[in-house]
Amino acid sequence: MDERELLRTVPIFSELDEGDITSLAQLATRRHCAKDTVVFFENEEGDSFFMILEGRIRVTILGDDGREIILTMLGPGDFFGEMALLDNEPRSATAIAAEDTELLCLHRNDFQKVATKRSITAALIKVLTQRLRRANHQIQTLALLDVYGRVARVILDMAKEEGRRLKDGRIAFRRATHQEIANRIGTTRETVTRMLKDLERQGMISVDGREIVLGPDFEKAFD
Ligand code: CMP
Repeated sequence: MDERELLRTVPIFSELDEGDITSLAQLATRRHCAKDTVVFFENEEGDSFFMILEGRIRVTILGDDGREIILTMLGPGDFFGEMALLDNEPRSATAIAAEDTELLCLHRNDFQKVATKRSITAALIKVLTQRLRRANHQIQTLALLDVYGRVARVILDMAKEEGRRLKDGRIAFRRATHQEIANRIGTTRETVTRMLKDLERQGMISVDGREIVLGPDFEKAFD
């Protein structure tokens, strides 16, 4: 795929006309990040906007005790790094490649020019609104549920965001490490391991190779 076709795969650019896509393609550069590469750190000055072509990016902040808190995982078609360019504040979080990742980057000035185009502004606002909704949901999870409820809720969220429905209606999704689940909800890996064993014993979840499958009662119990 050439740069223009790649840009078309990024949803916020899908409405741009051919001329705009062509000029954007000349400005965008590609960057490969091997697994665990830090794209940028929280609090750094931001000079670029990034779109994910392949792979996954983990967006994290550090707790006072040095523990990593995962705000979100982003995948192909998602973008990140827009906040520092929109409000001229430092990076609000760290971005790390969770697997081998292919990015398209736009320099600050080029992003700022593109962001004023009507279709892009509208698409940006929509995505930022969805992110705020999701963040509110996370606040609710963290503030109102005990640790057992949080583990169950984060599993359901991951299943809905990344999973696929099986023919029998159950949802199968990527089996994240216990550390990743723990870092999403501010608990320890040991606690997650214990809770997942409990859920498995109750028949609420089952592990199938590299996937977790939610049992038929899971959604009813924890949604
Ligand atoms: P920026 O602040 O430039 O750098 C960190 C990026 O992480 C930020 O832009 C957003 O793109 C992304 N980000 C920060 N917080 C969240 C969140 N709660 N949900 C999704 N993405 C986020």
